[in-house]
Amino acid sequence: MSTEKLTSSKSNALSGHIKVPGDKSISHRSLMFGGLAIGETVIHGLLEGEDVLHTAQAMREMGAEITCDDQNVWRCHGVGIGGLREPSTILEMGNSGTSTRLLIGLVGAHNITTQFSGDASLNKRPMNRVIKPLEMMGAKFTSREGGRLPLSVTGPASALPIEYRLPVASAQVKSAVLLAGLSAMGKTTVIEETPTRDHTENMLRAFGLTVDVETLEDGAQAISVEGQKDLIATEIHVPSDPSSAAFPTVTALLHSDSEVKMDNILMNDRRNGIYITLQEMGADIEFVNERIEAGEQVADLIVRGTNMLKGIDVPADRVPSMIDEFPVLAVAASLAEGTTTMTGLAELRVKESDRLLMMYQGLKACGVDLEMGEDSMTIHGNGQPPKGGVEVETALDHRIAMSFMVLGSVSLEPITIDDGAPIRTSFPNFIDLMNGLGTKIGA
Ligand code: S3P
Repeated sequence: MSTEKLTSSKSNALSGHIKVPGDKSISHRSLMFGGLAIGETVIHGLLEGEDVLHTAQAMREMGAEITCDDQNVWRCHGVGIGGLREPSTILEMGNSGTSTRLLIGLVGAHNITTQFSGDASLNKRPMNRVIKPLEMMGAKFTSREGGRLPLSVTGPASALPIEYRLPVASAQVKSAVLLAGLSAMGKTTVIEETPTRDHTENMLRAFGLTVDVETLEDGAQAISVEGQKDLIATEIHVPSDPSSAAFPTVTALLHSDSEVKMDNILMNDRRNGIYITLQEMGADIEFVNERIEAGEQVADLIVRGTNMLKGIDVPADRVPSMIDEFPVLAVAASLAEGTTTMTGLAELRVKESDRLLMMYQGLKACGVDLEMGEDSMTIHGNGQPPKGGVEVETALDHRIAMSFMVLGSVSLEPITIDDGAPIRTSFPNFIDLMNGLGTKIGA
C-alpha cells in the first residue's frame, strides 16, 4: 500500500469558525443499533471516516439496509434483534478496533459464523478481552496467537446471559458484552470499576431499551440489559467529536492571538478529560451554549491562544475520560513551562499503535526532554518550541499522525510524518479544516 507523507510547518495564529466531524463512538453505535432496530433510523451528522464506513459495510453484509443520501443523511432499516445473517465474505475492518470489538460482541451471540480481518495495525491488537466473555456466553473462536485477527467466531444456538466484571477499563469490552446480551435469553450484566464512555447505554435507551445501572457496595457500577427485546428505530443527531476537536484546540492554544470557535462539541463527562486538563494547564477555553441534545451534553467551544501553558500532574483516575487524547496532550505538555506527569497509561500500549512508545520516540526525535515508564510519561517543558526538523514514524495511527502535525505548526523546523493516510479513519477533512484555520500542512 502506498503511503502519504505529510509535512507541517510553523504557522501564525489560527482563527476561524469550524464544524468538526461527528463523534466516532456515537457514529459506530448509530449504525449498529439502526441496523438492528425495527423501522427507519435516520442519522444526521454521521462521521464519514473510514472506520465508521467499515461498520456500515459490515452491517450491510449481515442484512441491514443502510443508505446515505446526497445531503449526507443516513437511513437504516434494521434486521431485528437476533436477525443478523451470516456474511458471505470476510468482514474487512481496516484500522477500526471499535467496529471489530463491538461487532464481535454482536455476532458472537448469533448462531452464524463470521470472520474478521484488519490492516497491519488492527491485526496486532488484542481481541482476547472480548473473546473471553463471549466464550462464556457460548461463542467459539479460532484466532491467531494471543487472540489476534484474522479470527472466526461462531455463536451458539442460544447465547447465555452472563455477569461479567471488566478486567480492564474499556468501553469497547463493556459494549461488546452488552451487545451480545441483546440477543441472549435473560439479563446480561457488565460490572465496571472505573467509569468508561457510556454511549452504548445512552443510545440503547434512545432506541427504547431499558438499561439498568446500579452502584454496588464497592463503588463499581453494574450495567444490565434484558435480552431479546426489540430496539425501536429513532432519529439521531451526532454531535461533533471531542477527540477530533482536541487537535485544533491544542493548535490554537499553542499560538497566542488565536481564536477558534467550534460548534456542537460532545461534552459527555466521560469524554471531556482533555478539556479539564488543558484548563488546569492554563488554557483559555470557553464553553458556551451548553445544552443536552439527543441525550448527550454538548457545548460550543471558543479556544483562545494562551501565552503559556504550565506543566501539571494528570490524575490517573482521569485517564478513561481522555484515553485517546494523550498523544495531543503530550504535544501541549512539550510546549508548556514545567513538568507534566501522566500515569496509568497501560492501555495506550494497545491502541492503534503503542502510543506511549510512538509519542516517546517522536517527541524525543523532535528535541523534547521526556521520559517514558511502563505505563507513564513525564515531559519536561521549558516553554519553548522544540526543534523539529525530522520525519516521524506513526505506525498507522491517526492520532499519532495528527499530533505531530500539530507539533509541526509550532516547532522551529517543519515536521514530516511517514504516512498521513490513517487520518482519514477518524477525521477525513483534518488537513482542510486545519489549513483553513491557518496551519501549513501539506504533502
Ligand atoms: C471506544 C473506546 C475506547 C477508545 C476508542 C473508542 C469506543 O477504547 O480508545 O477510540 O467507542 O467504545 P477502549 O474501550 O479500548 O478503551
